[in-house]
Amino acid sequence: MVFGLSSFRSAARLPTAILAIVSVFGSAEVVKAADLDSVLAGQTNLTTFRELIKDYPDIFAKLPSGVTVAVPNDNAFDKLGNFDEWRDNKTHVEAVLKYHVMPKIVSMPSIIKGDSIWAPTLLTDPKFSPIKGGQRLILTKQPGGEVVFTSGFANRGTVMVEDIEWDKGLVQVIDSVMRIPEGLESTARNAYHDMTSFLGALFATDLYDELIAGAKDVTIFAPTNAAFQKLASTLPTLSKEELKSVLRYHVVPGQVSQIWELKNASRLATAEGEHSIRILRHTNFIFADSAQVLQTDILVANGAVHLVDNVLNPKANGTGPDVEAVAQSPVFSLVGTQTVTGTGAPTPYTEFLPCTVSCPVTEVVRTEPTASATRSVNQGGVRPTSTNGAWGVQKFNYICALNPPDASASLAF
Ligand SMILES: *[C@@H]1O[C@H](CO)[C@@H](O)[C@H](O)[C@H]1NC(C)=O
Ligand SMILES: *[C@@H]1O[C@H](CO)[C@@H](O)[C@H](O)[C@H]1NC(C)=O
Ligand SMILES: *[C@@H]1O[C@H](CO)[C@@H](O)[C@H](O)[C@H]1NC(C)=O
Ligand SMILES: *[C@@H]1O[C@H](CO)[C@@H](O)[C@H](O)[C@H]1NC(C)=O
Repeated sequence: MVFGLSSFRSAARLPTAILAIVSVFGSAEVVKAADLDSVLAGQTNLTTFRELIKDYPDIFAKLPSGVTVAVPNDNAFDKLGNFDEWRDNKTHVEAVLKYHVMPKIVSMPSIIKGDSIWAPTLLTDPKFSPIKGGQRLILTKQPGGEVVFTSGFANRGTVMVEDIEWDKGLVQVIDSVMRIPEGLESTARNAYHDMTSFLGALFATDLYDELIAGAKDVTIFAPTNAAFQKLASTLPTLSKEELKSVLRYHVVPGQVSQIWELKNASRLATAEGEHSIRILRHTNFIFADSAQVLQTDILVANGAVHLVDNVLNPKANGTGPDVEAVAQSPVFSLVGTQTVTGTGAPTPYTEFLPCTVSCPVTEVVRTEPTASATRSVNQGGVRPTSTNGAWGVQKFNYICALNPPDASASLAF
């Protein structure tokens, strides 16, 4: 206890003399610590979260020292729309609360501008976290210095008040309730409609359960619908086994890789088994084989998805990108005639998406225009909060406009 407190205090840069006092007396009063509720009571607009703490005392009473709590403000809960319904589901609320607690001191000033760190949370229940080390949040410091938390479904919250101290660590006040990452299917259907061709192909080959849903810890390179559209007449000429190999080549099992952790010229062993993907960095761009990574670090329940602009081909794993090109050429020998090209081309495999209760399949297939190099790669579903505007394109530009953060500078968890 005393040890934990001391180590937190040293992280918070308290003078050594005070640490000595803490060690001798072992008393929280010496360092003017306060419990979570008193600290939150000193801030405006945090009443909803304070009520949840009272409703779920166990989660907060048992916290060890050295934690960081992301506290959504009242407006964040109002934005949920269905809060009353939400609040009655004990399993859900408990999971969400745990997803807001990071078992580390994560100080906002310690994050370097342009850097993104992944912070595991206390949500380790395998039902919500089929991932090593607990479900994660991503914390990104924007060029302007504000820190944005990203959760599942691209749901983002900006830090409104940072580094408030309490006796077990820090509080960061955010303006959205973080959303627990869900499976690839749910994520593609609800938030990233630009992966529906890839998802449909996984269902068309009966690979979804085996390769994706049943896996723990995966990194997935998901081609955009536009990438599939370019191959609309070619892919149907592949046998089911060939298509399976192609799809397996997009999945790196057993590891969840944050994109900037992937070193230049490194290779990733894929579920395809025989060939490996090569990572290439060029200026501030990153490529997987010849495909450019358009959007990085999309959180799904069991890993991370990186959206790429080309369908990868295990048999063309030696093909590098044309780093000057706006979009990469297909790495399949094109066959068949595509009467319609570009955004009007058919979106392969979306007809294989299983129908849900309300059968949104037709809607998704027909109403989501795709393609064009500058289009937002992040459409639909739970949309960005007002603070963050059109984050699909912005995020992409933002990543490309900054030096990729040095992976070694990230906090190690
Ligand atoms: C508190 O919430 C109200 C209503 O949403 C808002 O008008 C006010 O600016 C908020 N105060 C602070 C300090 O954020
Ligand atoms: C409660 O939440 C859990 C976890 O999110 C979910 O699986 C379950 O279906 C919800 N129950 C109800 C009655 O909505
Ligand atoms: C990445 O590696 C390739 C091949 O080894 C090399 O040509 C390229 O210059 C490297 N890029 C960076 C940014 O170091
Ligand atoms: C293609 O994959 C094989 C098997 O992993 C590897 O030996 C080969 O070097 C790869 N080619 C390139 C250019 O990455």
